[in-house]
Amino acid sequence: MSIDEHYRRWTEADCVRRFAEKGVGEFFETERRFLTRIMPDVSSVLDVGCASGRLLELLHQYKPDLAFDGIDIVPDSIERAKQLYPASRFWCGNALGIDPGRTYDLVNATGVCQHEPRFEDLIRRMWSWSSRHLLFDVKLARLDRHLVDIDRSYSGETQRLYFIIASLPGLLATLKALPEVGRIAAYGYVTKPNKHTTVPADLGDFVSAGFLLDRVPGAVAPEIALELPDFLTA
Ligand SMILES: C[S@@+](CC[C@H](N)C(=O)[O-])C[C@H]1O[C@@H](n2cnc3c(N)ncnc32)[C@H](O)[C@@H]1O
Repeated sequence: MSIDEHYRRWTEADCVRRFAEKGVGEFFETERRFLTRIMPDVSSVLDVGCASGRLLELLHQYKPDLAFDGIDIVPDSIERAKQLYPASRFWCGNALGIDPGRTYDLVNATGVCQHEPRFEDLIRRMWSWSSRHLLFDVKLARLDRHLVDIDRSYSGETQRLYFIIASLPGLLATLKALPEVGRIAAYGYVTKPNKHTTVPADLGDFVSAGFLLDRVPGAVAPEIALELPDFLTA
């Protein structure tokens, strides 16, 4: 399988190891907050960009018995996932080109959309695989348009990843256009670029945000519940 240049960083050994060894305590508040609310009703989960499947350790804290499957583009990560969690099904490849062939109560993508230049296509696909909930995280700034430019906003040095900053109005327009979205909730806080990340000097503050979409059959206009810093919504 050939992997496009802008995904290569994911295949490097230190990166594979980091996510394979990720502990339960390393998942962020953006991830835990919504899980606490929805997990009591969730029996099946698809994790997109699952790396070695460590999210299952966190999910087990909410539900010990859970059908859990995953997709990741990195063969080494998927090999480890299969060894660690033999009861799960894992696909190796780009989630933009894979079809799991079934739906899940929850489709999750942690740390994926902010590096995926086609993140809105990915969100549409993930929504089509979800029977109830979609959970993902993004970076947001006060922008009219998404910033998707690997020359200006990236992480890594030799093998760059896109570091995408989404526009809140643009993202909400995409989410509202999805079918049967009954509720869109977001929770986020201001964050800083780490030492491996470069963003435009004039970007201003940006925010790490988790989004939860709930499917309500027949819904035409979603309820919107945003817990985000004022500068994004004013
Ligand atoms: C930041 S890591 C997060 C891993 C894991 N979700 C976690 O939170 O620990 C992003 C993962 O998504 C995978 N990934 C990124 N884009 C992908 C795509 N389009 N299709 C499948 N996997 C992808 C990468 O290989 C990597 O393992």
